[in-house]
Amino acid sequence: MTDLKRVTTLSLADLKRRGQKIVMITAYDALFGRLVDEAGVDVVLVGDSVAPLLCGEETTLPATLGQMMYHGRIVRRGTTRALVVVDLPFLTYQVSAAQAVRNAGLVLKRTGAGAVKLEGGRTVAPSIRAVVDAGIPVMAHLGLTPQSVHALGGHRVQGKEAAAADRLIEDAKAIEDAGAFAVVLELVPAGLAQRVTAALSIPTIGIGAGPHCDGQVLVLHDMLGLNDGFRPKFLKPYAALADIVRSAVGAFASEVRGGQFPDAEHSH
Ligand code: KIV
Repeated sequence: MTDLKRVTTLSLADLKRRGQKIVMITAYDALFGRLVDEAGVDVVLVGDSVAPLLCGEETTLPATLGQMMYHGRIVRRGTTRALVVVDLPFLTYQVSAAQAVRNAGLVLKRTGAGAVKLEGGRTVAPSIRAVVDAGIPVMAHLGLTPQSVHALGGHRVQGKEAAAADRLIEDAKAIEDAGAFAVVLELVPAGLAQRVTAALSIPTIGIGAGPHCDGQVLVLHDMLGLNDGFRPKFLKPYAALADIVRSAVGAFASEVRGGQFPDAEHSH
């Protein structure tokens, strides 16, 4: 049955046309999927950041298709309104356009998500075209592309020099021409993100890319202050949940050890 209540790729295009900002956030499970959906975000991204964030990996590279399909399915189950976008993990679309179509299709079939996201510019444009032609909406990702962290020499701001900035704009035009419906711009100077946003008719969604993008995305566990060891300049923590977790669990431990819990009020 068609999901008439959900945000669609067309709704996002409309938000850009009307100059209204798009809000995207990551989630990896049904509980947080429900909470961020109830908070009214437009897009929930099931990011391959699940690998470093929830699985203790150093990078996003170890994320697997099976893992992304599992997290995609449970996030989709928790949401009713937001567009759910699932990351295609490393090495599930870079080999060929046929590989990209097959894996993007499996993600949509098995998760119920509305779109996939993949990283790269001109080199992946033919694959974006093939996936879009198969009826699968694609969000692209430029700038700091975490699946290429080793080639990029770390998590550094991209497009600082004029030539690199021009290349990024060419990449952005290539992915738009290939049919992507939106693009994430990660860790690029605000002025460059502004140029890309003006050059494209599809929405740009920034993370560490300044205020001029058509929308903003943050990683949920970072902005909640749960992943409290991670404090890049662009990140604004909207809560300090790590402190709350430590203090609540510490209080529970101390009351159990001291015999104060369970008390009469919490016993049958
Ligand atoms: O995997 C992820 O969480 C992402 C965001 C940083 C945009 O791609």
